[in-house]
Amino acid sequence: MNDAVLAANEQFAEISLPNPVEADAAITRVEGEIPQELTGTLYRNGPNQKISPKVGPRALHFFDGDALIQAIRFEDGKAHHLGRYARTAAFERNLAEGEYVQAGLRIPADRVVEPPIPSHSPNTNIVSHAGRLFALAENMPPFEMDPETLASKGLWEYDGKMLGMSTTAHPKIDGRTGQMWIHGYQPMSPHIQLYCVEPDGRVSLAEAHDAPWASMMHDFAITENHVIFPLGSMEFDLAPLLTGGTFTQALSGVDRPMTFGIRSREAGSEIRWFEAPSAGYMFHPANAYEEDGKIFMDACTYENPQSLIDSLDGARDGKVGSGLDANPYLYEFDLEAGTCKETKFSDSTAEFPRIDPRLIGHKNRWGYASTAEPAGGALGFSRRITKYDRQGGSSTHTKVVDGQWTGEPVFVPRSKEAAEDDGFVLVATHDANKAETAVEILDARGIDAEPLARLHLDTRIPFGFHGNWASSA
Ligand SMILES: [Fe+2]
Repeated sequence: MNDAVLAANEQFAEISLPNPVEADAAITRVEGEIPQELTGTLYRNGPNQKISPKVGPRALHFFDGDALIQAIRFEDGKAHHLGRYARTAAFERNLAEGEYVQAGLRIPADRVVEPPIPSHSPNTNIVSHAGRLFALAENMPPFEMDPETLASKGLWEYDGKMLGMSTTAHPKIDGRTGQMWIHGYQPMSPHIQLYCVEPDGRVSLAEAHDAPWASMMHDFAITENHVIFPLGSMEFDLAPLLTGGTFTQALSGVDRPMTFGIRSREAGSEIRWFEAPSAGYMFHPANAYEEDGKIFMDACTYENPQSLIDSLDGARDGKVGSGLDANPYLYEFDLEAGTCKETKFSDSTAEFPRIDPRLIGHKNRWGYASTAEPAGGALGFSRRITKYDRQGGSSTHTKVVDGQWTGEPVFVPRSKEAAEDDGFVLVATHDANKAETAVEILDARGIDAEPLARLHLDTRIPFGFHGNWASSA
């Protein structure tokens, strides 16, 4: 690797380092003006280990770490930062023992305790639905927290209707019906589970399916009438994890094309499987919708799953490699013919794709993602925000700033009735040179302009995963 790549890898390791501080402070260092229309909370989640292993936090897998939830609250043009740990039983046990006693996905515990603590933490996403707030990870049930105080409430297990070990971090809340759809996956039969939670919090559907093979299935998609399960060219074998192996040893690339399971949202429906032309893996679809008997889905696809697995393993210790290089793809499913077409629509790397949440499952025009130029697989995959026009228009980008990495873009409509791209894009930016985090507010209709406001946080947030806006207007 050349010097520029090594420097970028080192930057990424630096911005991913834990900072186990629970913030509670007004945000006073603000450049620009916070729009008055922003009334609500940006919740964010990501790994932030409280008690690090003796070998140091860089040995942790990219997915490992306690969940420190961040709430950036906006009202009357002012902002406040609250951070609180999700105090799961495992978190409390680690704290009580005073050392790293929870086995990680990459390294063992410093000291094994009985009974052993499962290696999970709800550190991936934070979603509010039916008046409740859930911290989520794909290897455990949702962990409920208080939306105001972020006080921990405990596991929520779908009113006793869970059909598998866990559910994922990526619920899809239908922008029109308010139903929350969520899937689970596991390496044994039944491989996939599906749930629907009504806007009043009632679980109205809980069904399970087998897949042609067991894969990690991080996310999925819904349309008005269907659910889409992306089965990556990657096999997930539980055996290594049961015998002290690492998460990476449990995953391996398989020589099969990506395959998509599509079923109706109607209770009791079967899955039909659609083979894509190429192998690949996706963490995140952006959206899917139906039109003229077809389903269209866009997603960020990794063309080499094994390279992705290897890169995730070294992401924290400056050996990120070149595998974190998903590209934007469009998939077109013909429900009558049973076919799947794929189109790669950019060579830029792209991750964390998001859309206007009011259009989840319905036809959208605009999308947002964290991107980088083609060399980015090695030089960094998240260096700017790109806005995509699905109607064949050109894409626009924020400026790339030296040493700065961008997190997931979260779109917030200006009002309930505002047009699709009339609103703001909120993004956490991580400055490796200053070891600081800012929250930038971009005008969604001009993301290539300077941000409307840049909020400098007094407490650095490590590079994390996902977040969502909850309006209090
Ligand atoms: Fe994710």
